[in-house]
Amino acid sequence: MNWTPNRNEKKPIYKQIAEYIEGEISLGNYSPNSVLPSERELAKRLSVNRSTIVAAYDELQSIGLVDRVKGSGTKVSGDIWGLLNKRIPNWNKYVEDGSFLPNFPIVQRLRQQTQENDIINLVSGELSSDLFPAEKLQQIITSVSFREHLGYDHPQGNEFLRSTIALHVKKYKNIDTSPSSILITSGAQQALHLIVQGLLKPGDSVAIEDPSYCYSLPLFHSAGLKIYHLPVDEKGIDPEDLIDVLRKHRIRMVFVNPDYQNPTGTVLSENRRKYLLELSAKFGIPIIEDDPYSLTAYNGKVNPTLKSMDSNGNVEVFLFFSEYF
Ligand SMILES: Cc1ncc(COP(=O)(O)O)c(C=O)c1O
Repeated sequence: MNWTPNRNEKKPIYKQIAEYIEGEISLGNYSPNSVLPSERELAKRLSVNRSTIVAAYDELQSIGLVDRVKGSGTKVSGDIWGLLNKRIPNWNKYVEDGSFLPNFPIVQRLRQQTQENDIINLVSGELSSDLFPAEKLQQIITSVSFREHLGYDHPQGNEFLRSTIALHVKKYKNIDTSPSSILITSGAQQALHLIVQGLLKPGDSVAIEDPSYCYSLPLFHSAGLKIYHLPVDEKGIDPEDLIDVLRKHRIRMVFVNPDYQNPTGTVLSENRRKYLLELSAKFGIPIIEDDPYSLTAYNGKVNPTLKSMDSNGNVEVFLFFSEYF
Protein backbone atom coordinates (compact mmCIF):
# COMPACT_ATOMS: atom_id res chain seq x y z
CA MET A 1 0.00 0.00 0.00
CA ASN A 2 1.69 3.21 -1.17
CA TRP A 3 -1.22 5.43 -0.32
CA THR A 4 -1.10 7.62 2.79
CA PRO A 5 -3.68 10.06 4.11
CA ASN A 6 -3.19 13.73 3.38
CA ARG A 7 -2.75 15.50 6.70
CA ASN A 8 -3.20 18.95 5.16
CA GLU A 9 -6.65 18.12 3.90
CA LYS A 10 -9.69 19.36 5.85
CA LYS A 11 -11.35 15.95 5.62
CA PRO A 12 -10.76 13.89 8.77
CA ILE A 13 -8.11 11.20 8.36
CA TYR A 14 -10.44 8.34 9.27
CA LYS A 15 -12.75 9.38 6.43
CA GLN A 16 -9.88 9.52 3.96
CA ILE A 17 -8.92 5.99 5.03
CA ALA A 18 -12.52 4.73 4.76
CA GLU A 19 -12.85 6.24 1.28
CA TYR A 20 -9.53 4.77 0.20
CA ILE A 21 -10.54 1.26 1.31
CA GLU A 22 -13.97 1.69 -0.28
CA GLY A 23 -12.20 2.54 -3.55
CA GLU A 24 -9.93 -0.51 -3.26
CA ILE A 25 -12.95 -2.76 -2.65
CA SER A 26 -14.81 -1.44 -5.66
CA LEU A 27 -11.69 -1.89 -7.83
CA GLY A 28 -11.57 -5.52 -6.72
CA ASN A 29 -8.26 -5.12 -4.91
CA TYR A 30 -9.97 -6.48 -1.80
CA SER A 31 -12.34 -9.28 -2.75
CA PRO A 32 -15.52 -10.31 -0.92
CA ASN A 33 -14.83 -12.17 2.32
CA SER A 34 -11.13 -11.26 2.25
CA VAL A 35 -9.66 -10.19 5.56
CA LEU A 36 -8.58 -6.57 5.80
CA PRO A 37 -5.39 -5.62 7.66
CA SER A 38 -5.83 -5.63 11.42
CA GLU A 39 -6.44 -2.29 13.10
CA ARG A 40 -3.02 -2.37 14.74
CA GLU A 41 -1.19 -3.27 11.52
CA LEU A 42 -2.97 -0.65 9.40
CA ALA A 43 -2.45 2.00 12.07
CA LYS A 44 1.27 1.26 12.00
CA ARG A 45 1.43 1.23 8.21
CA LEU A 46 -0.35 4.58 7.88
CA SER A 47 1.28 6.11 11.00
CA VAL A 48 -2.04 6.94 12.60
CA ASN A 49 -3.68 6.16 15.89
CA ARG A 50 -5.45 2.82 16.17
CA SER A 51 -8.69 4.64 17.07
CA THR A 52 -8.54 6.32 13.64
CA ILE A 53 -8.61 2.90 11.95
CA VAL A 54 -11.43 1.79 14.25
CA ALA A 55 -13.42 4.86 13.14
CA ALA A 56 -12.66 4.14 9.45
CA TYR A 57 -13.76 0.52 9.77
CA ASP A 58 -16.88 1.59 11.69
CA GLU A 59 -17.73 3.90 8.82
CA LEU A 60 -17.30 1.10 6.26
CA GLN A 61 -19.42 -1.19 8.41
CA SER A 62 -22.18 1.41 8.60
CA ILE A 63 -22.53 1.35 4.82
CA GLY A 64 -22.42 -2.45 4.68
CA LEU A 65 -19.02 -2.79 3.02
CA VAL A 66 -17.29 -4.72 5.80
CA ASP A 67 -18.23 -7.13 8.57
CA ARG A 68 -16.49 -6.96 11.91
CA VAL A 69 -16.38 -10.01 14.09
CA LYS A 70 -14.83 -9.75 17.54
CA GLY A 71 -11.68 -11.85 17.63
CA SER A 72 -11.46 -12.51 13.88
CA GLY A 73 -10.96 -8.96 12.59
CA THR A 74 -12.53 -7.05 9.74
CA LYS A 75 -13.63 -8.76 6.52
CA VAL A 76 -14.94 -7.38 3.25
CA SER A 77 -18.63 -8.18 3.19
CA GLY A 78 -19.50 -11.48 1.43
CA ASP A 79 -22.48 -9.86 -0.21
CA ILE A 80 -20.28 -7.26 -1.80
CA TRP A 81 -21.11 -7.99 -5.42
CA GLY A 82 -24.77 -7.63 -4.76
CA LEU A 83 -24.01 -4.59 -2.69
CA LEU A 84 -21.85 -2.98 -5.32
CA ASN A 85 -24.55 -3.69 -7.86
CA LYS A 86 -27.13 -2.08 -5.64
CA ARG A 87 -24.80 0.73 -4.58
CA ILE A 88 -26.33 1.86 -1.30
CA PRO A 89 -26.00 5.64 -1.17
CA ASN A 90 -23.38 6.82 1.25
CA TRP A 91 -25.69 8.97 3.36
CA ASN A 92 -22.88 10.26 5.55
CA LYS A 93 -21.24 11.70 2.48
CA TYR A 94 -24.48 13.32 1.35
CA VAL A 95 -24.87 14.92 4.76
CA GLU A 96 -21.28 16.17 4.66
CA ASP A 97 -21.71 17.61 1.19
CA GLY A 98 -25.02 19.31 2.03
CA SER A 99 -24.92 23.03 2.66
CA PHE A 100 -26.32 22.76 6.19
CA LEU A 101 -23.48 22.66 8.71
CA PRO A 102 -23.94 20.72 11.92
CA ASN A 103 -23.97 22.44 15.30
CA PHE A 104 -20.55 23.13 16.74
CA PRO A 105 -19.01 20.08 18.48
CA ILE A 106 -19.25 21.83 21.86
CA VAL A 107 -23.00 22.39 21.35
CA GLN A 108 -23.46 18.76 20.30
CA ARG A 109 -21.65 17.63 23.45
CA LEU A 110 -23.76 19.89 25.66
CA ARG A 111 -26.96 18.51 24.18
CA GLN A 112 -25.76 14.93 24.60
CA GLN A 113 -24.73 15.56 28.20
CA THR A 114 -28.07 17.10 29.13
CA GLN A 115 -29.93 14.19 27.55
CA GLU A 116 -27.86 11.53 29.20
CA ASN A 117 -27.30 13.07 32.62
CA ASP A 118 -29.41 14.93 35.09
CA ILE A 119 -28.07 18.33 34.04
CA ILE A 120 -30.19 21.45 33.61
CA ASN A 121 -29.84 22.71 30.09
CA LEU A 122 -29.23 26.46 30.17
CA VAL A 123 -28.34 26.60 26.48
CA SER A 124 -31.89 27.20 25.38
CA GLY A 125 -34.64 28.82 27.41
CA GLU A 126 -36.91 25.96 28.34
CA LEU A 127 -39.59 25.84 30.98
CA SER A 128 -39.02 23.33 33.71
CA SER A 129 -41.51 20.52 33.18
CA ASP A 130 -43.08 21.13 36.62
CA LEU A 131 -44.02 24.66 35.51
CA PHE A 132 -46.21 23.43 32.67
CA PRO A 133 -49.89 23.85 33.52
CA ALA A 134 -50.47 20.19 32.70
CA GLU A 135 -53.95 19.95 34.28
CA LYS A 136 -55.16 23.09 32.58
CA LEU A 137 -53.91 21.84 29.23
CA GLN A 138 -55.68 18.56 29.84
CA GLN A 139 -58.92 20.39 30.61
CA ILE A 140 -58.62 22.48 27.45
CA ILE A 141 -58.04 19.41 25.33
CA THR A 142 -61.07 17.58 26.72
CA SER A 143 -63.35 20.64 26.63
CA VAL A 144 -62.64 21.69 23.05
CA SER A 145 -64.22 19.45 20.48
CA PHE A 146 -61.75 18.53 17.78
CA ARG A 147 -63.09 19.99 14.59
CA GLU A 148 -59.99 20.40 12.49
CA HIS A 149 -59.45 18.31 9.41
CA LEU A 150 -56.13 16.54 9.20
CA GLY A 151 -55.23 17.57 5.67
CA TYR A 152 -53.13 20.54 4.64
CA ASP A 153 -54.02 23.67 6.53
CA HIS A 154 -53.48 27.25 5.33
CA PRO A 155 -49.84 27.61 4.15
CA GLN A 156 -49.23 30.42 6.66
CA GLY A 157 -50.62 28.30 9.50
CA ASN A 158 -54.02 27.72 11.04
CA GLU A 159 -56.18 30.85 10.67
CA PHE A 160 -57.73 30.70 14.12
CA LEU A 161 -54.28 30.38 15.66
CA ARG A 162 -53.03 33.37 13.68
CA SER A 163 -56.02 35.53 14.71
CA THR A 164 -55.43 34.55 18.33
CA ILE A 165 -51.76 35.47 18.03
CA ALA A 166 -52.63 38.84 16.46
CA LEU A 167 -54.88 39.60 19.47
CA HIS A 168 -52.24 38.35 21.87
CA VAL A 169 -49.42 40.54 20.51
CA LYS A 170 -51.73 43.56 20.50
CA LYS A 171 -52.71 42.99 24.12
CA TYR A 172 -49.35 42.05 25.60
CA LYS A 173 -46.77 43.57 23.28
CA ASN A 174 -48.59 46.52 21.77
CA ILE A 175 -47.90 45.22 18.26
CA ASP A 176 -50.50 46.08 15.63
CA THR A 177 -50.68 43.31 13.10
CA SER A 178 -53.18 41.23 11.18
CA PRO A 179 -53.46 37.42 10.90
CA SER A 180 -52.35 37.66 7.27
CA SER A 181 -48.99 39.11 8.38
CA ILE A 182 -48.29 36.16 10.65
CA LEU A 183 -46.52 32.99 9.59
CA ILE A 184 -46.47 29.98 11.88
CA THR A 185 -43.19 28.10 11.81
CA SER A 186 -41.84 25.08 13.53
CA GLY A 187 -39.67 26.92 16.02
CA ALA A 188 -37.24 29.77 15.64
CA GLN A 189 -34.81 27.69 13.66
CA GLN A 190 -37.27 27.28 10.83
CA ALA A 191 -38.17 30.98 10.91
CA LEU A 192 -34.49 31.90 10.69
CA HIS A 193 -33.96 29.37 7.95
CA LEU A 194 -36.77 30.91 5.88
CA ILE A 195 -35.40 34.40 6.45
CA VAL A 196 -31.85 33.58 5.40
CA GLN A 197 -32.91 31.42 2.46
CA GLY A 198 -35.70 33.69 1.27
CA LEU A 199 -34.24 37.14 1.82
CA LEU A 200 -30.48 36.78 1.75
CA LYS A 201 -27.89 35.14 -0.46
CA PRO A 202 -24.49 33.57 0.19
CA GLY A 203 -21.85 36.23 0.80
CA ASP A 204 -24.32 38.76 2.26
CA SER A 205 -23.23 40.43 5.47
CA VAL A 206 -25.28 40.37 8.64
CA ALA A 207 -24.66 41.85 12.08
CA ILE A 208 -25.41 39.83 15.19
CA GLU A 209 -24.91 40.11 18.91
CA ASP A 210 -21.70 38.77 20.37
CA PRO A 211 -22.20 36.45 22.17
CA SER A 212 -25.43 35.24 20.60
CA TYR A 213 -27.79 32.25 20.61
CA CYS A 214 -25.61 29.26 19.77
CA TYR A 215 -28.24 27.43 17.70
CA SER A 216 -28.62 30.37 15.30
CA LEU A 217 -24.95 30.60 14.39
CA PRO A 218 -24.63 27.35 12.38
CA LEU A 219 -27.66 28.42 10.42
CA PHE A 220 -26.00 31.69 9.38
CA HIS A 221 -22.78 29.86 8.56
CA SER A 222 -24.67 27.25 6.52
CA ALA A 223 -26.27 29.97 4.44
CA GLY A 224 -22.79 31.29 3.58
CA LEU A 225 -23.40 34.64 5.28
CA LYS A 226 -20.60 36.89 6.47
CA ILE A 227 -21.11 37.57 10.14
CA TYR A 228 -20.13 40.79 11.91
CA HIS A 229 -20.24 40.90 15.67
CA LEU A 230 -21.79 43.57 17.86
CA PRO A 231 -20.47 43.16 21.44
CA VAL A 232 -23.13 42.97 24.17
CA ASP A 233 -22.51 44.98 27.36
CA GLU A 234 -24.82 45.40 30.36
CA LYS A 235 -27.25 47.45 28.23
CA GLY A 236 -27.21 45.13 25.22
CA ILE A 237 -25.54 45.99 21.91
CA ASP A 238 -24.23 49.50 21.39
CA PRO A 239 -25.64 51.00 18.17
CA GLU A 240 -22.39 52.99 17.83
CA ASP A 241 -20.72 49.65 17.09
CA LEU A 242 -23.22 49.09 14.30
CA ILE A 243 -22.16 52.44 12.81
CA ASP A 244 -18.53 51.27 12.86
CA VAL A 245 -19.47 48.05 11.09
CA LEU A 246 -21.62 49.92 8.56
CA ARG A 247 -18.68 52.17 7.65
CA LYS A 248 -16.73 49.14 6.47
CA HIS A 249 -19.36 46.65 5.29
CA ARG A 250 -22.66 46.59 3.50
CA ILE A 251 -24.79 45.06 6.22
CA ARG A 252 -28.00 43.56 4.85
CA MET A 253 -29.68 42.64 8.13
CA VAL A 254 -29.31 42.95 11.89
CA PHE A 255 -30.38 40.13 14.24
CA VAL A 256 -31.09 41.02 17.85
CA ASN A 257 -32.60 39.42 20.92
CA PRO A 258 -33.36 42.59 22.94
CA ASP A 259 -35.03 41.09 26.02
CA TYR A 260 -33.16 38.77 28.39
CA GLN A 261 -30.70 38.07 25.67
CA ASN A 262 -29.46 34.51 25.31
CA PRO A 263 -26.85 33.88 26.66
CA THR A 264 -26.10 37.09 28.60
CA GLY A 265 -29.59 37.78 30.00
CA THR A 266 -29.20 41.52 29.29
CA VAL A 267 -31.99 43.89 28.29
CA LEU A 268 -31.38 46.38 25.50
CA SER A 269 -31.88 49.84 27.03
CA GLU A 270 -34.74 51.97 25.74
CA ASN A 271 -32.38 54.66 24.41
CA ARG A 272 -30.41 52.07 22.49
CA ARG A 273 -33.63 50.61 21.10
CA LYS A 274 -34.59 54.04 19.78
CA TYR A 275 -31.14 54.66 18.37
CA LEU A 276 -31.05 51.25 16.70
CA LEU A 277 -34.41 51.95 15.04
CA GLU A 278 -33.16 55.35 13.88
CA LEU A 279 -30.12 53.71 12.26
CA SER A 280 -32.29 51.05 10.69
CA ALA A 281 -34.51 53.73 9.13
CA LYS A 282 -31.57 55.92 8.11
CA PHE A 283 -29.66 53.13 6.35
CA GLY A 284 -32.68 51.05 5.31
CA ILE A 285 -31.45 47.94 7.12
CA PRO A 286 -34.06 45.46 8.30
CA ILE A 287 -33.95 44.29 11.89
CA ILE A 288 -34.94 40.79 12.87
CA GLU A 289 -36.14 40.82 16.46
CA ASP A 290 -35.88 37.47 18.20
CA ASP A 291 -38.31 37.78 21.08
CA PRO A 292 -38.88 34.60 23.03
CA TYR A 293 -38.57 36.16 26.47
CA SER A 294 -40.08 39.66 26.73
CA LEU A 295 -43.10 38.36 28.67
CA THR A 296 -41.05 36.42 31.18
CA ALA A 297 -39.98 39.27 33.51
CA TYR A 298 -40.15 38.35 37.21
CA ASN A 299 -41.71 41.76 37.97
CA GLY A 300 -44.26 41.47 35.15
CA LYS A 301 -42.90 44.62 33.45
CA VAL A 302 -42.84 44.29 29.66
CA ASN A 303 -40.35 46.42 27.78
CA PRO A 304 -41.55 47.89 24.49
CA THR A 305 -40.45 45.51 21.75
CA LEU A 306 -38.58 46.97 18.78
CA LYS A 307 -41.50 45.91 16.61
CA SER A 308 -43.97 47.95 18.69
CA MET A 309 -41.66 51.00 18.50
CA ASP A 310 -41.12 50.71 14.75
CA SER A 311 -43.13 53.13 12.67
CA ASN A 312 -41.43 52.33 9.34
CA GLY A 313 -41.99 48.59 8.96
CA ASN A 314 -38.27 47.90 9.32
CA VAL A 315 -38.57 45.29 12.04
CA GLU A 316 -39.65 41.70 11.59
CA VAL A 317 -40.21 39.76 14.72
CA PHE A 318 -40.28 36.15 15.62
CA LEU A 319 -41.95 35.08 18.80
CA PHE A 320 -42.26 31.73 20.47
CA PHE A 321 -45.75 30.89 21.47
CA SER A 322 -45.39 27.22 21.96
CA GLU A 323 -43.16 27.88 24.93
CA TYR A 324 -44.25 31.15 26.48
CA PHE A 325 -47.82 31.87 25.49
C1 LIG B 1 -32.59 33.56 21.71
C2 LIG B 1 -33.51 32.42 21.39
N1 LIG B 1 -34.17 32.45 20.24
C3 LIG B 1 -35.02 31.45 19.93
C4 LIG B 1 -35.23 30.36 20.76
C5 LIG B 1 -36.21 29.28 20.37
O1 LIG B 1 -35.65 28.45 19.41
P1 LIG B 1 -36.49 27.22 18.78
O2 LIG B 1 -37.90 27.68 18.64
O3 LIG B 1 -35.86 26.93 17.46
O4 LIG B 1 -36.37 26.10 19.74
C6 LIG B 1 -34.56 30.30 21.96
C7 LIG B 1 -34.75 29.14 22.84
O5 LIG B 1 -33.99 28.87 23.70
C8 LIG B 1 -33.67 31.35 22.29
O6 LIG B 1 -32.99 31.34 23.44
